[in-house]
Parts: sequence; structure tokens; C-alpha cells
Amino acid sequence: MIEAPDGLPHPFVRPPRDGFVPTIAPRDLARLLRGADRPYLLDVRPEAERARARLPDDRAVPLERLPRAVDALPRSRPLVAYDHFGYRAIAAAEYLRDRGFPLAAALEGGLDEYARVADPGLPRYPAVGRGAELVVRSLLRPETGCVTYFVGDPREREAVILDPGRDAAPYLALLAAEGWHLGAIAETHTHADHLAGHAALHAATEAPIYLSHRSPAAYPHRVLREGEAISVGSGELEVLETPGHTPDHLTLKLGGRIFTGDTLLLGSCGRTDLGEGSPDRLWESLMDKLLRLPEETEVRPAHVGTLHGLPARSASTLGFERVTNEALQQDSREAFLRYMTEGWPPKPADFDRIVRANLEG
Ligand SMILES: [Fe+2]
Repeated sequence: MIEAPDGLPHPFVRPPRDGFVPTIAPRDLARLLRGADRPYLLDVRPEAERARARLPDDRAVPLERLPRAVDALPRSRPLVAYDHFGYRAIAAAEYLRDRGFPLAAALEGGLDEYARVADPGLPRYPAVGRGAELVVRSLLRPETGCVTYFVGDPREREAVILDPGRDAAPYLALLAAEGWHLGAIAETHTHADHLAGHAALHAATEAPIYLSHRSPAAYPHRVLREGEAISVGSGELEVLETPGHTPDHLTLKLGGRIFTGDTLLLGSCGRTDLGEGSPDRLWESLMDKLLRLPEETEVRPAHVGTLHGLPARSASTLGFERVTNEALQQDSREAFLRYMTEGWPPKPADFDRIVRANLEG
């Protein structure tokens, strides 16, 4: 464990990483592929997606299998990882760069963008993957490293906002500019590191606020239990109760994607010693619930960035986290309990005050 830097709002203490992963634009990659010194191409998508389209002369290593394939990859040659939209490729390139592949980069925008701008002959993903189904956007607050997620049904123009920040203005501007109706606001848990924004957003939109039935919040809200769902137009966010970081923690599942709040972060997981947390419950939430989902499930956490000692990216997969995440490397409940209870820096002074404020409104 290293010492947390001063002023860390949500002190996950892992060695700070700059999170920088070079990306290559589709047109630049197309140019390199026509030249004499082609980069090594690494397809990190799930195997089944290769039937749709692929780049020529590539090597397929699905992201979750990357740790086992590292030694067979060329360390001294430019390497470009690619996937569908670019998220998994960034995770792959970061992983490789951390392990002695200084020339690893990711294809910006993924194969879909490559097909659109650099190779119109390449079959594209069906429209359902690009917007006809629910759209997801990460709205990062760089000053705090908190991520708010926007989920919307583009046909019905209905949206849900998860874990909004205190300033509602950017969300209201987005809703108004693009003609979205806000159908719901949801908090994954009672936050202790930042002032939550549900109240201002609710006041401006009248969208109901959804919380776990275990939340002690004093303000009017609708409760969610395991197996229930929040509807978003024609789709829905399924509720998985994942207590541990806090007793009221929810993970929300949208198809093959989970919004994990602070239950599972990239490379780490949320502390359990800041309030009513429980490392035992967290172990069960991780092992008995989240890690039972398919390996290719996309993980979208509530915090990112060096402020928290976390990577800058906001997406990974369960398979990748299973084999790289420090918390998930603990090989028994006992080891996990030790990991979660020893060596953390003191609780920041503000946390109790922030929790109280977040429960009032
Ligand atoms: Fe938290």
C-alpha cells in the first residue's frame, strides 16, 4: 500500500498510474496497414464478433484472455489493439503498456469507426449496436473523478441519469439540447466522497429518485429491490443488490453491461471502512453475484482517474478484472477481509458530513 496523496476525496490507495493510453485514428491505421511496416493487430473482442468483420492479418485474443497470452505477443513492435467501439482496446493497450509493451496503442472508436471512415467495404455492426438500442454516455467530472452515467432510449427519447453530480446544469442542458425526457434519477449508493445531485435534478425535472430499499435517505424516493428494474423507454436497468461498500449499494445491469458504482472499480473496489460498509458483504457481492455474470460483461464504475489511484478509462470487462484487479486477486475470503481492512489511510474528515447531507436531500 502506498500513502494516499493529500486531498484525495475517495482514497483508494493503489500506486498512481497516469492512465495515458495512446490511440491511433482509423485513417492513420489504414495508412500504416498499406505501408511496409505494418503494426501488429490484436483483436480483443469476444470470439463471436469476429464473424461479423475483422482486420486482415490480425491475432485474436479476447480481452479476458490477454493475461494468459502476453508472452506470445511481440514487445518490440508497434501493436494496435482493436475492438467494437474502442473501450476494450484501451483497456488492453493499458494492460500491455504496464507489462513492457511500450509500443501498444488502441484503435480510436474501434472497428465500427474504422469501417465508417477508413474502409467502407468492411461490414459494419448493425444499427442496434450504434444507437437504435439504449445509448450510454459517461459524464465525467474531472475535478472529482466521479462518473455520472446517462442512459437513454433514442426512439422514445426517455433517459435515466445515474449518480448525478451536484450541479444539475450540464444534465439539464443535455436533456434540453437533444430533446430527452428524464424518466428517472438513480443513486447506486449513499455517497460519502461527494455531494450527490439527485435533489437539484429532481427539482428541475420532477423525475423520481430511485434508491435501494436499504437506503436510510430521508427525502421522498422510490425503492428498488433485487430483481426489480428501472425502465428506460423500451429498455430497462435491472437491479442487483451488491452491499459491501455501503449496505444500500446497487449495481444496475443494462444487457451485457453493469454500472457497478463503487462495488467494483477498475483494478480495485470501494472501501468498506468509511461508514457502514462490510468487507464480508462485499466479498459475497463480488464472488456470488457479479463474477457469476459472463466474462465479457462490460464494467462501468462510478470513479476513475489518478485522483483515486485508478485508471483514467471508465470501462473494462469482468473477465479482465477477474485476472488483473487487485481486490479480486485475493484468493480467499480471509485474504480479502485482510486486504479490505489493513493498510488504508484514515477516513477523510468530511465523509460523515457529506453522508449526512446526501441523506437529507
Ligand atoms: Fe462510494
